[in-house]
Amino acid sequence: MRGRHVLVGITGGIAAYKVGYLVRDLIKSGAEVKVMMTESATRFVAPLTFSVLSKNPVYSDLWTNNQTSNPDISTQHVDLANWADVLVIAPASANTIAKLAYGISDNLLAVVALATTRPIILAPTMDAEMYLNQVTQNNLVTLKERGYIILDPPKGELASGLSGPGRLPEIKVIIEAIENVLSQSYQDLKSKRILITAGPTYEAIDPVRFVGNRSSGKMGFAIANAAALRGAKVTLIAGPTHLETPRNVTRIDVESAEEMLEAVLSNVKKTDAVVMAAAVADYRPVNPARQKIKKQAGSKTMDLQLETTRDILAELGRKKRTTALIGFALETNDEIANAKEKLRKKNLDLIVLNSFGKKNQVFGSNLNTVAIIDKHGKIEQLPIMPKFEAANKILNRIKKIL
Ligand code: CTP
Repeated sequence: MRGRHVLVGITGGIAAYKVGYLVRDLIKSGAEVKVMMTESATRFVAPLTFSVLSKNPVYSDLWTNNQTSNPDISTQHVDLANWADVLVIAPASANTIAKLAYGISDNLLAVVALATTRPIILAPTMDAEMYLNQVTQNNLVTLKERGYIILDPPKGELASGLSGPGRLPEIKVIIEAIENVLSQSYQDLKSKRILITAGPTYEAIDPVRFVGNRSSGKMGFAIANAAALRGAKVTLIAGPTHLETPRNVTRIDVESAEEMLEAVLSNVKKTDAVVMAAAVADYRPVNPARQKIKKQAGSKTMDLQLETTRDILAELGRKKRTTALIGFALETNDEIANAKEKLRKKNLDLIVLNSFGKKNQVFGSNLNTVAIIDKHGKIEQLPIMPKFEAANKILNRIKKIL
């Protein structure tokens, strides 16, 4: 911690008083600390408390000069954003979380959070119902996807008298998170090269029609996003989807299974892991028509002859050396047995089994229920969760293999 710059942002909540201990412990460990407070936070604890503890002025107003090294108030937010090695927002209120999710910057803390390129740690702290409200949960998922480090609030008795998740984590937990960030350990996949496929493939019937499937690509894109945020060098080979390319990801667009195979083969060299999340077509029309096929008057049926495509994963599995191979499976019956058989046949290290059912519509949803099965048949069943979180769980397992 010695000499590192920790910028602490305090928002309005009763737990604000506990942040005094955080600032004190950070100073004790040799860090330099500056504190920003929202107007609501100053109603809970006087800025003077944090000024004394941090040995610095407290920054709370966008429009006053708080004596940063640069006396120009118009650049104060930029100075603070650049000064910080890490920004820790604790307690982070539902209001501030919502502002950050949408880029609303109507106070100094929100402006600095928007302006900084440094890691941001959030400790959501509020009443349990506010925390569990879908609006807050969605905002937190949005922020996680952007790389914020979110500390889950412990459950317990809350100031409202109710009980549930919403408390400020122990000070030592917050300090550990800061140390992790500063030691870059959150970049735990740095220098790893990961090739990911996502989305469906389209197999041409004629120039305007195709055989496809319902895959949205969201799971593969979530893995690509999460891996890039953890420092991996990610190449994403995407079938047709409308999804945006995650930051720091190299994307290659393909359409058919054949194109995906070629793209994978020409990018697989020197990769540490290949994650085949794409729903690759198993069959494609034999000899797609060059012209649009006309409706045959008087004919009630039409035959479409299909031939098998090459299995990309099986091909990689046959030539396998050091690259870890991760496959996906979607089964409607004998799920575990079929997934295990696929893992064995294709020579994989892990297979991720998507649950298929009316309650858990995997296609297009932002939520997913998966089980991760390894070579030894060990099954890790995960509960329903946002695809981005499932992506991180899958990456945790891949990291162990690497
Ligand atoms: N896969 C692939 N190339 C194909 C077909 C599938 O690499 N031509 C990959 C998928 O990306 C997925 C895994 O193989 O990671 C499982 O695909 P799936 O189609 O479910 O399995 P199959 O072995 O084709 O078996 P079935 O369709 O009978 O379930």
